[in-house]
Amino acid sequence: MVWTSHPVARFQGAIRAPGDKSCSHRALMFAGIAEGTSDISGLLEGEDVLNTAKAMGAMGATLQSKGGGRWTIEGTGRAGLASPSGDLDFGNSGTGSRLMMGLMAGYPITAHLVGDESLSKRPMNRVIKPLERMGARFEHDGRGMLPLTLHGSEALQAIDFAPEQASAQVKSCVLLAGLNAEGTTQVTESRPTRDHTEKMLRGFGVTVSSRPGPGTQQVIRIEGGQHLSAVDTVIPGDPSSAAFMIAGALISPSGGVVVEGIMSNETRDGFFQAASLMGAGLGAEEIRDAAGERLIDLQAATTGLKGCAIPETLVASMIDEFPILAVLAAFAEGETVVSGAEELRVKESDRIAAVVAMLRVNGVEVEERADGFVVQGCGGPPPGGGLVETHHDHRIAMSALVMGTASQKPVSIDDPGMIATSYPDFMAHMAELGADIREG
Ligand code: S3P
Repeated sequence: MVWTSHPVARFQGAIRAPGDKSCSHRALMFAGIAEGTSDISGLLEGEDVLNTAKAMGAMGATLQSKGGGRWTIEGTGRAGLASPSGDLDFGNSGTGSRLMMGLMAGYPITAHLVGDESLSKRPMNRVIKPLERMGARFEHDGRGMLPLTLHGSEALQAIDFAPEQASAQVKSCVLLAGLNAEGTTQVTESRPTRDHTEKMLRGFGVTVSSRPGPGTQQVIRIEGGQHLSAVDTVIPGDPSSAAFMIAGALISPSGGVVVEGIMSNETRDGFFQAASLMGAGLGAEEIRDAAGERLIDLQAATTGLKGCAIPETLVASMIDEFPILAVLAAFAEGETVVSGAEELRVKESDRIAAVVAMLRVNGVEVEERADGFVVQGCGGPPPGGGLVETHHDHRIAMSALVMGTASQKPVSIDDPGMIATSYPDFMAHMAELGADIREG
C-alpha cells in the first residue's frame, strides 16, 4: 500500500511528544514484577509496547488500560513470573524481546519467544551468551535468532560483563537478569548508552550504581536478590519521535514547530546536538520533571543547514535518529559524514543500506560505507520523486515522509503500516503541522 508525502509550503504548529518507547517498555516490565499496584500515565500505546504488556500479562501480572495512556498494573511481587501458556510474540521489538529475556531468565520458567520477519533476522546471541553464562538455557536453530525457547533458573550467578556493542538493550538485559542472580552483576560499557533501566529501577526502589570508568567507559553494578516496590510513573515524551517533527520544521520553506514535553536526557539528545552542529538554532524551554527526567518544550524553525562530520561520541545518543539525520543532510549544503555507526546494520532494517537507498531514489548523491554513509547535500530541496522501500522499518517510513514535505517532488513509501509500532499518532501530528500525506 503506497503512501505519498506531497511538498507543502509551510510546516507549523505545536504538538505534544508521544510517550517515550524505551521508558514505556520498562515501566510495564518493572511494574509487572513489583510488589503492589503501580499507576502509569503517558504510556506509549504503540504496537511494540502493547506486545510487552501482553507478555507481562501472560506471565502473571495484572494490567488494566484506562484509556489515554493511563494503565494500572498489579505486579507479581514475590510470587515471581510464571511460564506463559502460549508463545510470547514481540512483533517488531528488539527492546521488548531482549529486555524481557533478561527479566525472565531469573525465574524458573520456560517461554517460547517469536517475532515478525524483521525481528526474526536480528542477532540475539548478544543477549543469549551472557544469559547462558549466568545459568539460563536456550533452544534455537543455531542462528541465535528468534524463534527461541528460554529456560530460566532460580539459581542464576552474577557475571562481570563487557558487551561488544554499545547497546542499552544488552546492558539492560544483563542488569535485569542480575536482579535475580546470586552476587553482584557488573556491566562495563565502552560508551554510555541510554540509562533508563538504571534510573527507572531506582524509582522502583532498587539500588543500582553507575560510574564512569577509564576513557569513555561506564560501569554499572547491581546486587542480586533485590525486590521492586510499586510506584506511580509518568512517562516522559519521546525525543526520538520528536526528532521527525523538529526535522520537518528545519527543512520546510516556512517552518515553525514546538514539540512539548520532550525528555531531556544526555544519553538521548545526540540528534539535537548534531542538528545544532549543522546550524539549527533550537530553542528549549524547561517545564517540569517526570519520572526523574527533565522535560522540555523544544522549538525549531526553517534553517539553512550545513553538512558536517557527525562526531562518533554522539552515535550512541542518536542511534535511532540516523535515518532522519540523513534527511537533514540531503537538504544541507556540503558533505555530511556518518562513521562509527555499524550497529545501524542490525536495527529494524539494515539502516545504512536502507538510508542510502532512500536518498538515492530521491536524487541525492550518497556513498555507502561499512560503518556509515556520506551524503552530498543539495543545499536546498532535493529532487524527490522516489518510492522508498521501508523494509518493515518504522523510522525509514517516517523519515521518507518528512523528506517529502519539502523536497521538489513528492516522496512515496511502500508501506506505512510499521509506523504504528512506535508512533501511532504520526500521521495525525504530521497533518496537524500541515503535511499532505495521502494513500496512492
Ligand atoms: C533501546 C536501545 C537501542 C535503541 C532502541 C531502544 C532501549 O537499541 O536502538 O530503539 O530501549 O534500550 P540497542 O541497545 O540495540 O542500541
